[in-house]
Amino acid sequence: MSLEVGDFRYCTAWAAACDPRFVTAASDAVAGIVLSRLAKSYGTVHAVRGVDLVIAPGETVALLGPNGAGKTTTIEMMLGLTRPDRGTVSIFGVPPAAARQAGWFGAMLQTGSPLDHLRVREIVTLMASYYPHPLPVAEVLRLTGADQFAGQWTTRLSGGQVQRVRFAAAIVGDPDLLLLDEPTAGLDVEGRRDFWQAMRAMTEHGKTVLFATHYLEEADAYADRIVLLARGQIVADGPATEIKAQVGSRTIRATLPEAAVAALGALPGVRSAERHGDAVVLTCTDADAALPALLAAFPAVRDIEVAGGSLEEAFLELTADETTGPGDAPGAMGVTG
Ligand SMILES: Nc1ncnc2c1ncn2[C@@H]1O[C@H](COP(=O)(O)OP(=O)(O)O)[C@@H](O)[C@H]1O
Ligand SMILES: [Mg+2]
Repeated sequence: MSLEVGDFRYCTAWAAACDPRFVTAASDAVAGIVLSRLAKSYGTVHAVRGVDLVIAPGETVALLGPNGAGKTTTIEMMLGLTRPDRGTVSIFGVPPAAARQAGWFGAMLQTGSPLDHLRVREIVTLMASYYPHPLPVAEVLRLTGADQFAGQWTTRLSGGQVQRVRFAAAIVGDPDLLLLDEPTAGLDVEGRRDFWQAMRAMTEHGKTVLFATHYLEEADAYADRIVLLARGQIVADGPATEIKAQVGSRTIRATLPEAAVAALGALPGVRSAERHGDAVVLTCTDADAALPALLAAFPAVRDIEVAGGSLEEAFLELTADETTGPGDAPGAMGVTG
């Protein structure tokens, strides 16, 4: 497996002499990353169809979606590697090219060409040289676990090792914004855990992070916020808890011997009610409305439990393909347990 140079190709400019963050419209700089009505087609394939997204400085956002949803195209437009057909990208108030010049980006991409003639330490050192204020190379190698094979040729690495080197290369410049396209693809469970541990160490210091993934649990565990993309459009945006609630799969369980199932099913926010002995189970479209209604109507209710629907359920519901057209790729989805 070879290392891919795609990660590095947009980092070859020296920092702008003057930091554009301080000479731009203050509102956009404060807003962080702003994508506005972003659209991109490849022939008849509508890869991204009018994406509006604001990411605040310091946020960690998961761009979650099945294969072909438009995650990579969106990230490439944010980096200025792909030109949008319509819409704009603002990175702390400036266009992607200026942000790149200033060394604000660190990125891991899915594509790129092989970079054969360097050893791991050399490649990370080279990357560091492109940034105005890099982190110490030795520290980055240690943090990413790449110190274990720092003397290896990049052509001789396993898939997991390649991902570590790509990650080291992405963070060595100490960038403000990390854009990671499926950073844990090809890693085993341990590799993923190590990756996210290193990630956490990085993002403690106020970094803004956007990572694409099709692993639900990864988005759930590591993002402040999940942006769910399907067929080139955002279909949900919010904390994982909010997205789970949105599809109405929360259930309320309680002990309530006296109440009629029909009366329970008629409460606001309740989709259906079942009885199992003294226990009742309410499946809710809006548990926030159902719970107070339940308490008001049946004061004797006790042992109340509210359970969230799974993110997997939410995901499948929100990305369900109701209009498969020529522009829509099949929604192959890696749901892992
Ligand atoms: N360079 C390209 N040429 C033609 N079609 C493309 C190209 N890049 C992406 N696509 C298509 O655009 C859609 C979105 O792709 P992509 O952004 O890679 O999605 P994701 O990263 O979510 O899997 C897919 O249908 C894909 O086949
Ligand atoms: Mg992709």
